[in-house]
Amino acid sequence: MRVGDSSTAGTTEVIAGMVQAAVDGDLFRIETVTPYPEDYEATVKQATEERTAGYKPPLKTKVENMDDYDVVYLGHPIWGMSLPAPIVSFLSEYDFSGKTIIPFCTHAGYGPGQTVSAIRALVPGATVLDGFDIERTEVSNAEEAVSAWLREIGMDV
Ligand SMILES: Cc1cc2nc3c(=O)[nH]c(=O)nc-3n(C[C@H](O)[C@H](O)[C@H](O)COP(=O)(O)O)c2cc1C
Repeated sequence: MRVGDSSTAGTTEVIAGMVQAAVDGDLFRIETVTPYPEDYEATVKQATEERTAGYKPPLKTKVENMDDYDVVYLGHPIWGMSLPAPIVSFLSEYDFSGKTIIPFCTHAGYGPGQTVSAIRALVPGATVLDGFDIERTEVSNAEEAVSAWLREIGMDV
């Protein structure tokens, strides 16, 4: 199984590392060809423009052997109550039919919004579980919460 994440400040990456360790998966980082700005406000502005335009930024990193994975943990931050555009690119780039996608996200306290429904709409042939979300301030102490979630969905190994 594959654990993917797109993380600009490294918050989601922390959770991805915990999931990877728990399920013994392969870690993969979703990266765009053009990195997002270092500046937060500039990233918010760009993200808003991309979301409004439905732009799917080209990705730098590719999973060459996606066929080998039947379960993909997909981690992402919440951007504007939605999926970051690179996640839309990632979900559009591969055929997830018959696979199980297990989403998780980090956010600043406003919750996951409708992101799981948005993922489902992008990969109609896949099974998308309800997923896990956590506020960024809780991330460093999240081992227990991550383990409890994995146990709950029967994916702890
Ligand atoms: C462009 C942008 C938009 C964001 N929009 C939201 C939001 O709508 N709701 C929220 O709770 N947090 C929002 N955040 C905060 C991030 O979701 C949060 O800091 C997350 O943990 C960042 O993860 P990362 O370090 O893996 O990128 C936003 C951050 C950025 C950069």
